[in-house]
Amino acid sequence: YRTLRVALLGAGAVGSQVADLLLKHGDELADRAGAKLELAGIAVRNLDAKRDVDLPQELFTTDADTLIVGSDIVIELMGGIEPARTQVLHAIASGADVVTANKALLATHGSEVFEAADQVGAEVYYEAAAAGAIPIIRPLRDSLAGDRVVRIMGIVNGTTNYILDRMDTEGADFADVLAQAQALGYAEADPTADVEGYDAAQKAAILASLAFHTTVPLDAVHREGITSVDAAMIESARHAGYVIKLLAVCERLAAEDGGTESISVRVYPALVERTHPLASVHGANNAVFVQAEAAGDLMFYGAGAGGVQTASAVLGDVVSAARRHIAGGVGVGESTRANLPAVPIGRVITRY
Ligand code: HSE
Repeated sequence: YRTLRVALLGAGAVGSQVADLLLKHGDELADRAGAKLELAGIAVRNLDAKRDVDLPQELFTTDADTLIVGSDIVIELMGGIEPARTQVLHAIASGADVVTANKALLATHGSEVFEAADQVGAEVYYEAAAAGAIPIIRPLRDSLAGDRVVRIMGIVNGTTNYILDRMDTEGADFADVLAQAQALGYAEADPTADVEGYDAAQKAAILASLAFHTTVPLDAVHREGITSVDAAMIESARHAGYVIKLLAVCERLAAEDGGTESISVRVYPALVERTHPLASVHGANNAVFVQAEAAGDLMFYGAGAGGVQTASAVLGDVVSAARRHIAGGVGVGESTRANLPAVPIGRVITRY
């Protein structure tokens, strides 16, 4: 097999598992990818930080810039906007394909990153950026490309689903369950991103952009978190036959008064009927319920958070990137992502 050089940026909960699986399953991945995937190095901020798994010390470096140069595939799992944005653009400019789980970066600088990639014929893979291990990016981008998605209702944040579920099933206390979600590695470094709905809003922007073939800016996403949900609200919802879930809803709105069709993207604690499939999504699991004109109702379900689970989606992208390299890649200008119109937001619905 030809050898492809893979650079990993970040060795947190997901990154350390990606490195471990790449090293453990190297031969099998080579057979699937048609190329040997050589982990050239792992760039980290702190060489002495404690890792979730033991990895060969000689792989670690603090010099991401040097590691990126000459790499065929750069996996960015640092999270956050900077330095991730600069490193991703550097990787693209160096001729690498990029695999990233960085929802914050894509939700805020997606157009910049995709345009940079299109200009040089590189590809950016991000299956792990929304709903963890669940395949949802490819289904929306590829499998449903011939259909018209009309609505997505997603439980796309594991931490808040874990909290709401434990409050609902055990009457657990908000602060206690949040601490447990953090201990289990589901929560973001700053859990405000989870409980205030920022994480879900970033994922909603990514999913809506794919579903509606447009660019949905993050600031067009209406966002409410779950900090105001208390035991009494959960109890009264239960009596009325509902469960409270933090939903990301992305939908097409019919044209009004001869105007154009618009879309609404919003994240809020919603009342979900207990008989709806989304009501039975427990723990830190995620689910994305998609309604399309021809396909009808589809539901994608599984682990939305967790290091090794999310690593599965990252490695799938690495195999796709390797296959593309081996096949010769696509030429400049073949992608249709660049210069997508900004979405015409007609109205944003804030009350349900
Ligand atoms: N903090 C996120 C969650 C991790 O709880 O879903 C996955 O993006």
